[in-house]
Amino acid sequence: MDKYKILGRIANIYADGGNILEYLRDIEGHDHNSIEDIMISYDFQAGSYNSAYKKTPDKFNSPHEAMAEIMNGCLPENGYTLCEAGVGEGTSFFPLIPYLRKKPAIACGFDISWSRILEAMRFGNEFTGLEGMSRQLVVGDMFEAPFADNSFDIVYTSHAMEPNGGKEAQMLAELYRITSKYLFLFEPIYELASEEVQKRMIHHGYVRGLKRQAEALGYSVVRYEILRCFVSDLNPTGVLVIEKGGTTEWQGLCDPLSKKRMTEYDDCYFCKDSMLSYPKIGGIPCLSRQNAVLTTKFETQKV
Ligand SMILES: C[S@@+](CC[C@H](N)C(=O)[O-])C[C@H]1O[C@@H](n2cnc3c(N)ncnc32)[C@H](O)[C@@H]1O
Repeated sequence: MDKYKILGRIANIYADGGNILEYLRDIEGHDHNSIEDIMISYDFQAGSYNSAYKKTPDKFNSPHEAMAEIMNGCLPENGYTLCEAGVGEGTSFFPLIPYLRKKPAIACGFDISWSRILEAMRFGNEFTGLEGMSRQLVVGDMFEAPFADNSFDIVYTSHAMEPNGGKEAQMLAELYRITSKYLFLFEPIYELASEEVQKRMIHHGYVRGLKRQAEALGYSVVRYEILRCFVSDLNPTGVLVIEKGGTTEWQGLCDPLSKKRMTEYDDCYFCKDSMLSYPKIGGIPCLSRQNAVLTTKFETQKV
């Protein structure tokens, strides 16, 4: 099924209050969500988190405080690099930073949905107190992150691995790859959930077995529990912390496929090694496989 040919129908389903992911899963008879379905579903929802946060900031900030309490003991002393994978509209990313005992020097967020990154940029523009921190928000996929190995001291997720059930090991490996010191997963944990929550997680195709799969990959899980406070009782936030203990090597944005450095131009990024270019739309770098353009003659073009 070519989902891009039924976007009008999907828009109507969303306007009528329907669940897009459920609809897309059902028409293909799948029990897991594809990355394309996740992208379509979240892109249509763009703006909803931003307005929900503005209505009840305290409801969202209490979990941020609880997340920061866990992260604070692991933050490096000197200027560090931080990344939120599946950053969405930035409604965790920006409000979390003031709770951290030290601001990162460089903070990046990426998400599969362009419209949500746009919302995140808008949301971030309204935040004060983040001066001196370099920030970068881009379109990117958690299975092929646009960063080199060990780019970030700290990588974290907040309910972003959640809909990618069935592909836990690949996602863990990719997030671990870009992490140098600690990977914090603030995700629903099936094994620690009630029967009611477990049923819901199965129904929605959520991740399961994160700890088992992380340990099978040889990772050191140093914390595993339910967060002391979360937004919804139907979807409690768990905490899984993986320690890597490596050295950080920040190299900037990279080609998500070759993981090699890119050169920035006004309208795109070009990777000399892979010969692939990636567009910027509305100033947002679009760095997922779907956005790659083969440009073997890039350097011969006359501008
Ligand atoms: C429940 S929202 C959470 C957003 C944000 N982390 C927060 O706490 O507000 C899940 C987000 O993860 C993103 N996401 C899910 N799977 C992804 C993937 N494979 N790569 C990148 N982003 C992904 C979705 O687009 C969505 O914005």
